[in-house]
Amino acid sequence: MKKGIILYQSKYGATEKYAKWLQEKTGFARMETKKASLSDVLPYDTIILGGGLYAGFISGLNFLKKHYGKLKDKKVLVFAVGATPYDEKYIATCKDAQMKDELASLPLYYCRGAWDDSKMKPFHRFIINMGRKMMQKQKDPSMASMAEGLMGSAGQAADWTDESYLAPILAAVQEGT
Ligand SMILES: Cc1cc2nc3c(=O)[nH]c(=O)nc-3n(C[C@H](O)[C@H](O)[C@H](O)COP(=O)(O)O)c2cc1C
Repeated sequence: MKKGIILYQSKYGATEKYAKWLQEKTGFARMETKKASLSDVLPYDTIILGGGLYAGFISGLNFLKKHYGKLKDKKVLVFAVGATPYDEKYIATCKDAQMKDELASLPLYYCRGAWDDSKMKPFHRFIINMGRKMMQKQKDPSMASMAEGLMGSAGQAADWTDESYLAPILAAVQEGT
């Protein structure tokens, strides 16, 4: 396997868990996206960037938006970690909204994360409660799927992290090696 690096941004630990599993399985380097600079990633042939999903935004994706011009000859894979149950439509919606222009040609993978209301920062809890109220009124199916993830776990702790979500990412890493 060629050299690679896993960049990750995780607020509550689910993306970090996936990044660690990926590191074990690939032997790649691993670094928090917010600590990484372009010079840290340039030596690698493969870059896997993973981020927690927050209000539809993939944490740390700005790193790629900023530097993609200098990374476009590399294999770049992106994964998002969210509470929403796996749903192709929801993933496509996130991708269309977040990965435009140069990033549109990159694949977006999805791994289901974790949820614990009791560990949530007060500001996040406030946003989530507002979101739950808004989503109860939504008829859009992709929002309904997200609502199921967020509302279904209201007041509970849930951990959906599972190594099997990494299979398509690992297959893509191996492709062409
Ligand atoms: C304020 C807030 C917003 C969130 N927004 C989304 C979202 O838009 N879509 C989703 O699937 N999950 C959403 N989640 C759930 C997180 O993505 C999930 O808990 C994930 O495991 C977080 O990954 P991390 O622990 O690596 O940061 C949200 C959670 C919080 C606290």
